[in-house]
Amino acid sequence: MSKLNQLQGCAITGIGSYVPERVLSNSDLEKLVDTNDEWITTRTGIKERRMAAENEFTSTMAVKASLKALTQAELSPTDLDLIVVATITPDMPFPATACLVQQELGASKAAAFDLEAACSGFIYALEVGRAFISSGVYQNVLIIGAEKLSSIIDWEDRNTCVLFGDGAGAAVLQRRDGARGVLATRLGSDGNKAEILAMPGGGCRQPATVDSVNDRIHFLKMEGKEVYKNAVTAMTAAAKDVMEQSGLSIDDIKCIIPHQANQRIISAIGERLGAKEDQVFVNLQKYGNTSAASVAVALDEALESGKIERGDRILIIAFGAGLTWGATVLEW
Ligand code: UT7
Repeated sequence: MSKLNQLQGCAITGIGSYVPERVLSNSDLEKLVDTNDEWITTRTGIKERRMAAENEFTSTMAVKASLKALTQAELSPTDLDLIVVATITPDMPFPATACLVQQELGASKAAAFDLEAACSGFIYALEVGRAFISSGVYQNVLIIGAEKLSSIIDWEDRNTCVLFGDGAGAAVLQRRDGARGVLATRLGSDGNKAEILAMPGGGCRQPATVDSVNDRIHFLKMEGKEVYKNAVTAMTAAAKDVMEQSGLSIDDIKCIIPHQANQRIISAIGERLGAKEDQVFVNLQKYGNTSAASVAVALDEALESGKIERGDRILIIAFGAGLTWGATVLEW
């Protein structure tokens, strides 16, 4: 059996997303740190982002996105075999946020675990779910990318606080004989560059102490320029790889859904792939970088906007801390 055939039989039957109501605009940020709308817009393309309410958490946003995906799939939570939540902002270090989602949904027969691959999390979760389905282990899998990044942002650091937002996206994966679904996937990682994007505090290396809090190590830290360069190279290579694996050229792709971190990164990748501007879906002006939720929310919006029809090929590309990256080609 060819590699491509092995990947068949897993269809995405439902997609859903949720973003919190509260909008934080660039001009709101001007009141917090030494920044301005012109800098944020020209360097990133972001105009505003959503902020979760105090009583909204990664799990509650995940549940809202999941209910939409389950409704679209016409599937009851009790039919789910597995729930995977990709996140770097779990409700708590343990138990897994996926278990909180399982309880809230009433998914009584589902296994549940979290997956941590930062901004690449949704593509990693898609491949994990796909593998469980294609191998015949499970029939119905719910994958979620969800983040309350506002809880780990240093609101005194202008280098990072302007970039991120909160939200959630979910997809239902189901065994469908003959479905094309996921055509090819490439995942990658490089732990040599772990320190360029990290939250150093709160794990067993540097548990929370009065000093660690005073040293502000429980916030996200990023060397922006290094991350930028690695993101362009890795996402371009992964995208080329999955197109080659699936025997498709850029002209065969109806819609490219890149990780929504920076308009300049997205444009650079589009250029390197030879994509036309209208092939590339962008919504980062509204939400900023929502990490694991980013490509899931974008996929949901691209579908809602009518940009994607049955049979279209979609290329999803992501990159994040780890470093991690991934690309996947889907037939819708
Ligand atoms: O989701 C995971 C993947 N993450 C990413 O893909 C993010 C990748 N990185 C980036 O998107 C970009 O590197 C940034 C948007 C973070 C920064 O853009 P840049 O063009 O690389 O700018 P820079 O970091 O080199 O900073 C240029 C200048 C600096 O001033 P000096 O040192 O040149 O005087 C910064 O201090 O811009 C300054 N700066 C700001 N100025 C106004 C940094 N942040 C701000 C700000 N407002 N918010």
